[in-house]
Amino acid sequence: MSNRHSMRRVHLILAFVPLIGACSWFTDFKQQPSVGPWQNFSSDSAAGKGFRGQPAGSVPTTGTTSAAFGISHAPMPATIDSFNVVKNPVAVDARSLANGRQYYALNCAVCHGDKGDADSYMRQANMAYGFAPAINGDVTKARSDGYIWGVMRNGRGLMPSYNRIEEMDRWDVVNYIRGLQGMLGQPVPTGPLGLPGETGDKLPGATPMGPTVPSKASKPAAPAASGVERKAEDHR
Ligand code: HEC
Repeated sequence: MSNRHSMRRVHLILAFVPLIGACSWFTDFKQQPSVGPWQNFSSDSAAGKGFRGQPAGSVPTTGTTSAAFGISHAPMPATIDSFNVVKNPVAVDARSLANGRQYYALNCAVCHGDKGDADSYMRQANMAYGFAPAINGDVTKARSDGYIWGVMRNGRGLMPSYNRIEEMDRWDVVNYIRGLQGMLGQPVPTGPLGLPGETGDKLPGATPMGPTVPSKASKPAAPAASGVERKAEDHR
């Protein structure tokens, strides 16, 4: 290559440097809208469209029974009906029921009641807040596993999305609800998992999914963090 050509290339590169410096490309990636775990979703937020799912075409690393882009996130009954075709891949066993109970007690009992009979803390506090239906009755018994799994994923009406519960854990919740409905031939334990403020192996722990803001309380003091926490750091 002649000297003249390479000089021209240098000039060309130099001409682009100020352009790159001027654009906000680098900061745009950091400042995306996101909903943190346990963060209130407000219907008057700018998007007003509810929780975001995975982008179209993304492939989960945790394994999936139905790709997110294949099924809509719309909280419409018809959409949730379309989950009927998704088969429950998780066998009912002690592990599944124990795990499902944890998630149910932490996320669902507040509205649907410890036993799924709608006698919830919300209703006990104020009848006006007792709007969640019983899910241990004939109506929900007749629903498919895929449907119940889909309600958690998309939310419906006044029920928010519980997509933050990992897919496979959500099947455990479905199995546990079948237990509450008396459909397993054996009773399942009910009631709160522990006393307020109690922690340890009674609680499920951090979710490895979600580009969400890690809780300030869970931020590790020393660099010796678990893989899960480090992954959450990477997202910021
Ligand atoms: C904020 C209160 C609230 C919480 C928390 C909640 N739900 Fe709901 N849930 C509702 C309401 C309200 C409905 C009725 C929605 C509708 O029909 O428009 C509902 C409906 C349902 C249904 C549909 C019942 C049927 O037969 O159609 C299922 C299943 C369900 N919830 C399961 C769950 C599970 C599992 C959780 C926990 C992961 C949960 N819910 C958490 C309020 C709640």
